[in-house]
Amino acid sequence: MRVGFVGLGRMGQALVPRLLDAGFPVVVWNRTPAKAAAVLEHGATSAPSLPELSQAADIILTMLTDDNAVEAVYSPADGLLADDVAGRLFVEMSTIRPDTIKRIAALIMDRRAALLDAPVSGTVGPAREGKLLALVGGAAEDVERARPVFETFCRRIAHVGPSSSGTTMKLALNMPMAVYWQALAEALTMGVQSGLDLAQMLDLIADSPAAIGALRAKIPAILGQNDEIGFDVTGVRKDLLAMTATGQLLGTPTPAASAALLTYAAASATEWGHQDLAHLVSYYIAMVRETTGGGT
Ligand SMILES: NC(=O)c1ccc[n+]([C@@H]2O[C@H](COP(=O)([O-])OP(=O)(O)OC[C@H]3O[C@@H](n4cnc5c(N)ncnc54)[C@H](OP(=O)(O)O)[C@@H]3O)[C@@H](O)[C@H]2O)c1
Repeated sequence: MRVGFVGLGRMGQALVPRLLDAGFPVVVWNRTPAKAAAVLEHGATSAPSLPELSQAADIILTMLTDDNAVEAVYSPADGLLADDVAGRLFVEMSTIRPDTIKRIAALIMDRRAALLDAPVSGTVGPAREGKLLALVGGAAEDVERARPVFETFCRRIAHVGPSSSGTTMKLALNMPMAVYWQALAEALTMGVQSGLDLAQMLDLIADSPAAIGALRAKIPAILGQNDEIGFDVTGVRKDLLAMTATGQLLGTPTPAASAALLTYAAASATEWGHQDLAHLVSYYIAMVRETTGGGT
């Protein structure tokens, strides 16, 4: 099975080597061609254009920033769907809106091809280690077709329902995490303002029922001891916009997510926007220090 891969960002760079190491021939395309260098060195080949990538692969994975990027890449004018794609299986793995998946699924069905939405939970480290959790929407037979590919980078493949349900599940999974980091930022800032030690507070919270699974791994980032970016603050802003918009469409109020969005949006307009999401805490501490002149 020939695999196509579009989007060589943080996640794409981690996933393509796993596909190659498992023996799949992989053809790649990235908007900024220079970013393909590492995976080409690893054994991938490069398609000169998106329509040519669709012709060169049986299954095509896309891992892109947001809804606009996905709409551009699947464009019937000059994107993946520009030429005959009958029989192809597309797997859209970005975290986007279910509505966008529904639009693209209709275009793909019209062309007698198939689409799975399969966003993943887990960041760059788990991607490199093959430990992602895939949340898959689409037809069961297409999930089976894609399974050998998913198995190269997933510890679990969860088929959650028809087309777009994987995407809804991913928004549901990320929502409590986004709100958690907002609450943690508020709690830690309150403590720091009162003179508590940030490192000790983090250690105690991580050793209590108030910790989430991802917290301990993020502590070095919060303390400024590493600058690796798994997923950035701006990306969580994008996710929260998708969550609140999807909640509105479904008649589900999302007051906690809406409140958190205000902070992520403000932080995204600062230098912290392109730092790891754990730096929502750093942004909040800096913002409060500035507005209180350093004291209470
Ligand atoms: N990072 C994580 O921990 C993580 C975990 C799970 C899920 N996700 C989701 O996975 C997706 C990718 O995340 P990432 O961290 O890999 O993002 P990233 O590093 O910012 O990479 C984004 C990719 O999208 C491409 N892109 C953006 N706009 C485009 C456009 N208009 N046309 C064509 N290509 C475009 C970029 O191309 P250029 O190189 O040209 O900019 C790049 O290849 C996001 O939806 C994210 O929410 C991320």
